[in-house]
Amino acid sequence: MRKRSLAGLEVSAIGMGSAQTFDVHSREDVEVRRKIMDKCLEKGVTFIDTSPMYGRAERVLGETMDGRVDKFLLATKVWSSGKETGRAQIERSFQLLRTDYIHLFQIHNLVDWRTHLPYLEQLKSEGRIGLIGITYGYPDMFPEMMEIMKTRRVDAIQISYNIQDRAVEDEILPLAESLGIGVVVMRPTGKGLLATGLKQQPDLGPLQEFGIRTWGQAALAWLLADSRVTVPIPATTKPSRIVENALPGEIPPLPPELRTYIEKETERCS
Ligand SMILES: NC(=O)c1ccc[n+]([C@@H]2O[C@H](COP(=O)([O-])OP(=O)(O)OC[C@H]3O[C@@H](n4cnc5c(N)ncnc54)[C@H](OP(=O)(O)O)[C@@H]3O)[C@@H](O)[C@H]2O)c1
Repeated sequence: MRKRSLAGLEVSAIGMGSAQTFDVHSREDVEVRRKIMDKCLEKGVTFIDTSPMYGRAERVLGETMDGRVDKFLLATKVWSSGKETGRAQIERSFQLLRTDYIHLFQIHNLVDWRTHLPYLEQLKSEGRIGLIGITYGYPDMFPEMMEIMKTRRVDAIQISYNIQDRAVEDEILPLAESLGIGVVVMRPTGKGLLATGLKQQPDLGPLQEFGIRTWGQAALAWLLADSRVTVPIPATTKPSRIVENALPGEIPPLPPELRTYIEKETERCS
């Protein structure tokens, strides 16, 4: 697995999200998540994103990483309003993830960011967290997001970006690049639809020499061919998908002409 720099922190080029996919209850479902985490370690997919918004996800991650949490780089979020509620939620994330250090702490959907940011700065200066980030998945709050980025108080942003969702290209990605802010990418496969929702089968021909065998891999390779992107975090319910999705992080970034090919082929097959 290649590494990319998230504001100075070396992270796996492909990470993993946990929204919905790790919000599970039954012993059987939790055991499948343990196998997913095994595969993540095997393939070097070590940057893991979660949030208290995702139901039982932090708890299940903590349980399935137990004894090896130091092998992962963890990103979670605060998603609440008010100082005391926020602090309590942040403490709970440390407990549920069974760790005393979180590499990236993000403010989920910018919720009450003015309250949480000073506290995250305090935790950073105390060495309990590494980086501070903000997340938001739609263009309506880009102006506010950019306002925060320009204060230089955040190290990373998490935004939605994929072949069919390119609103961040106009202003957000250029600003992140100019400020040295890391970019975590949510919905990198468009919730899987870029791979499974196309009307026709795309032609993988020109991509095969790079080892790309599925259109899901092509979607992730398209993202990694943009140097402004740090780490896409595809989520999954399947251990085998980790192997599939790791591949684009194991190969060199595709040349620009193949990035364009993936765009055109996706459009042709949509
Ligand atoms: N506001 C926020 O902060 C925010 C918002 C949204 C997401 N996020 C974060 O970003 C992560 C990723 O976003 P997401 O889960 O919405 O979108 P995603 O990763 O694009 O979609 C996940 C879905 O795509 C499928 N999938 C993954 N890889 C695939 C492949 N190669 N081929 C076909 N299907 C594939 C998975 O199905 P299988 O189970 O079949 O593999 C899963 O159902 C989340 O889990 C979360 O951690 C943050």
